Amino acid sequence: MGNKLYAESKIELTPVIARHYDLIMNSISFGKYDRFIGQAVKDMDIRPGDRILDLGCGSGKNAALMKEYIGKDGRILGLDLSPVMERQFLAKHKGDERISFIRQRVDIPFDLGQRFDKVVISFVIHGFPQEVREQMIRNAKTHLKPGGKLIILDWSEFSLEQMPGHHRLIFKTVECVYAFDFIERDWKSILKQFGFDAFSEKFYFREYARLLISTKAHPSVNTGR
Ligand SMILES: C[S@@+](CC[C@H](N)C(=O)[O-])C[C@H]1O[C@@H](n2cnc3c(N)ncnc32)[C@H](O)[C@@H]1O
Repeated sequence: MGNKLYAESKIELTPVIARHYDLIMNSISFGKYDRFIGQAVKDMDIRPGDRILDLGCGSGKNAALMKEYIGKDGRILGLDLSPVMERQFLAKHKGDERISFIRQRVDIPFDLGQRFDKVVISFVIHGFPQEVREQMIRNAKTHLKPGGKLIILDWSEFSLEQMPGHHRLIFKTVECVYAFDFIERDWKSILKQFGFDAFSEKFYFREYARLLISTKAHPSVNTGR
């Protein structure tokens, strides 16, 4: 794609992949993706009335699962840069006033002027250089209320070298170089530097995927980031 922001990233999907993203995920996971994502959303501990910001929300599939938990007073706002994803998201949630979408890049600083109970980043953050991931964490922090939850669903921490050969082959085929770096980092330490604490985590897919939940510390804790 000629106008990619990050040449090496596989997270900026081509329009064709964006259109068929949900189907592709189900195919490459041998039909296990739906069950996995359903369980991960259940594990997010979403409560009635929650206001949720979904960074890089994709087709709205995750929002469709999350909205089962927010009750009539909850809200979900999805942000994505892809017009193809925007169309799918809006079609999926048409007529549901609790769910909205803004076409917005999440790799640059921005402030929507709203504060949320939860910020979800699902299979987005791994696909960028580290300084861009850090900007995404800052964006998440900006949009969270004190005590709000940052929910990252993504690859967990593991060593590419120590993966069984056939898993390594699949991972290297589907993923980009940024992901190879993402999996080697200590994300709890990184998030601590940004003022997040109280971590909890759940693992899926032989522990290759992780739901990492952390809490935005109250303003008295100043990390300077
Ligand atoms: C791998 S998909 C994940 C979609 C969704 N979060 C999910 O879990 O199904 C990555 C998404 O991030 C979006 N994206 C990539 N770069 C972005 C950016 N800089 N700003 C906003 N969205 C971005 C893509 O358009 C795509 O919808």
